[in-house]
Amino acid sequence: MGNIKLDLSRVYGVVDKSKVEALKGEAEAAIKTLHAGNGAGNDFLGWLNLPSSITDAQFAEIEAAAKDMRSRVDYVVVAGIGGSYLGARAVIEGLSDTFDYLRKDRKNPIIIYAGHNIGEDYLAELLDLLKDKKFGVVVISKSGTTTETAIAFRLLKELVEKTAGKEEAKHRIIAVTDKAKGALKTLATNEGYKTFVIPDNVGGRFSVLTPVGLVPIAIAGYDIRALVKGAADMEKETALDVPFEKNLSMQYAATRNALYRNGKAIEILVNYQPKLHYFTEWWKQLYGESEGKDGKGIFPAGVDFSTDLHSMGQWIQEGERIISETVVSVENPAKKQVIPSDADNLDALNFLAGKRVDQVNKMAELGTLIAHTDGGVPNIHVSVPQLDEYNLGQLIYFFEKACGISGYMLGVNPFNQPGVEAYKKNMFALLEKPGYEEATKAIKERLK
Ligand code: PA5
Repeated sequence: MGNIKLDLSRVYGVVDKSKVEALKGEAEAAIKTLHAGNGAGNDFLGWLNLPSSITDAQFAEIEAAAKDMRSRVDYVVVAGIGGSYLGARAVIEGLSDTFDYLRKDRKNPIIIYAGHNIGEDYLAELLDLLKDKKFGVVVISKSGTTTETAIAFRLLKELVEKTAGKEEAKHRIIAVTDKAKGALKTLATNEGYKTFVIPDNVGGRFSVLTPVGLVPIAIAGYDIRALVKGAADMEKETALDVPFEKNLSMQYAATRNALYRNGKAIEILVNYQPKLHYFTEWWKQLYGESEGKDGKGIFPAGVDFSTDLHSMGQWIQEGERIISETVVSVENPAKKQVIPSDADNLDALNFLAGKRVDQVNKMAELGTLIAHTDGGVPNIHVSVPQLDEYNLGQLIYFFEKACGISGYMLGVNPFNQPGVEAYKKNMFALLEKPGYEEATKAIKERLK
């Protein structure tokens, strides 16, 4: 069964335990609504039982496509944005050797990300890098019309066809999109690309365990079955019939809502492992897009410690007391590195000689935790034994389930994102997109 441990003891010094326990009834009502499928956004609950429902045939199809892509190329560009990109990047960077892309003896293709910005330099530099490389593209877009991704894909498609030839390009492009509608689906069908479907009832930020995440993760060389197994075990551990006291997702959801109601409007997700940087980015989207609406919601932010203790540490320790922190802690690093002794000892660090780097990191973690709780920053502590596919699967489902519960406790629809459209509408009006004539007129008037 599961590996995640949740320690809430350092919350209670700042916010009384009774305030968390008082939300038990609300958490129970929220999880019931989620499982009954009768709450807001209930047409987007496909993620709820997703891990336990992925079939052997589905795994095998993804693995076969990944094997084929790996046999053809040295570089794979994953083109997507938001929920169509962050989950894959979180898992791949969480599992990868940080410097693999610089190693000549690497076994895996180099994964590059695009379609998540509109940086002209970024795209021009990417195309320049790839112009003499063997590369493939996984283009991921549920709507198939997202501007950032579509622009990047237009450029990458042209380059792969030019450098590899139209026929080979068909094998070097995989599309992950809606089963029937959207421009990308039409294009993929016309061109004969291998296509994977994003289920209708799974929204972008909950889609990492669909082909959206699984295809890039398998291409990168990681075990998607172990990832999903971790999530499936967490699905059982956080099921409707698991009582509040033992249900990790209910506990986390109730605690963060208690903190919010007691003035903690910002939650920072903290890691002490640089490999988790994109896990934090994934988490920020999950909670930000799910909860930030109707004038409500905890602002989800992220920091990498100890790096950011030297930049954001001051604010967290002594700034406005509206912050809580959730630490994702990895008990055991995968590699071993011992600190050497030095004959001169000019840096006075010989007292650490013979200790592992991680021992210092753990004391930085504990020291920070004590300092922050002393400073009025409540601490939720989530730990996993190590960073591997199984444990990342556990973390993903744990946070997804808690997000659904927490969103209902907050009283919002956690499965829509109407606010994301506002910038798109203005951008299209400013770019004079056909069909936006009225909006263009209006926005030009405003800018006079
Ligand atoms: O969570 C979401 O729904 C969004 O982040 C989308 O995933 C993102 O906007 C990309 O959309 P699409 O997959 O349609 O290109």
